[in-house]
Amino acid sequence: MEGPIGIIDSGVGGLTVVKELRNKLPNESIIYIGDDKRCPYGPRPAEEVRQFTIEMASALSKMGIKMLVIACNTATAVALDDIRELFNFPVVGVIVPGARAAVTASTTGKIAVLGTLGTIKSGAYSMEIAQQSPSATVFPLACPEFVPLVESGQYKSDYASTIVDRTLSNLAGKDFDAAILGCTHYPLLEDHIKKSLPANVKVISSAVETVHDIERELKERNILNESKQSVEPIFYTTGLRTAFHEIVCDWLFIENPDVRHLTL
Ligand code: DGL
Repeated sequence: MEGPIGIIDSGVGGLTVVKELRNKLPNESIIYIGDDKRCPYGPRPAEEVRQFTIEMASALSKMGIKMLVIACNTATAVALDDIRELFNFPVVGVIVPGARAAVTASTTGKIAVLGTLGTIKSGAYSMEIAQQSPSATVFPLACPEFVPLVESGQYKSDYASTIVDRTLSNLAGKDFDAAILGCTHYPLLEDHIKKSLPANVKVISSAVETVHDIERELKERNILNESKQSVEPIFYTTGLRTAFHEIVCDWLFIENPDVRHLTL
């Protein structure tokens, strides 16, 4: 089936899922919305994030998507069930796959969860990990400074390294062997995060596992795109096109990405 897959995030974070999806299923067409104008979602009340998520899903619904991926942990945590109820297309979130990847990777069952304030406050990861592995221990940590570092394009800077180091020092003395990047923006800070955590800790991005779920769902529903032609994604941002464009080029290695402005 040729319809596009819709992917949403508060900003550029969902591009980490787009990257994996393009590697695994290059024939699928993608329409992405990043709500950069209202980013970050993390400190906002759950009701507001739910409302913004519905607005993005509605815009994509009008564009005729065959599936929606909520490539934002904060939005998945508070809005996944509502979105599934409101729309007819299948909806994939990032928290169940992220938790599964970490539970699989950890040998001690002690797992750190790095996320936004909203995600950590929701307890969504702790609940999901407990469901998948009742004996697991979770160390949740909100990292509110991380998303602004990424959105402002400073993710490679020494300043980012200092902030990451300082934030993760809150986990000192905690004994864990896996850390989930429980925010889709965080893989852009992965090098700094790895440097700041003990060498034995496996750093898990939910993006790869999420793409497994997307593929499974597409196959089960018989809506995989069988055409052999790969298509370039269309990106919409509610914020500044130039800033978004730069991060798409840098992160996805697309030379001339189709970045458009969207008002929600
Ligand atoms: N990428 C979003 C997430 O995974 C970031 C949320 C935010 O804007 O604070 O949670």
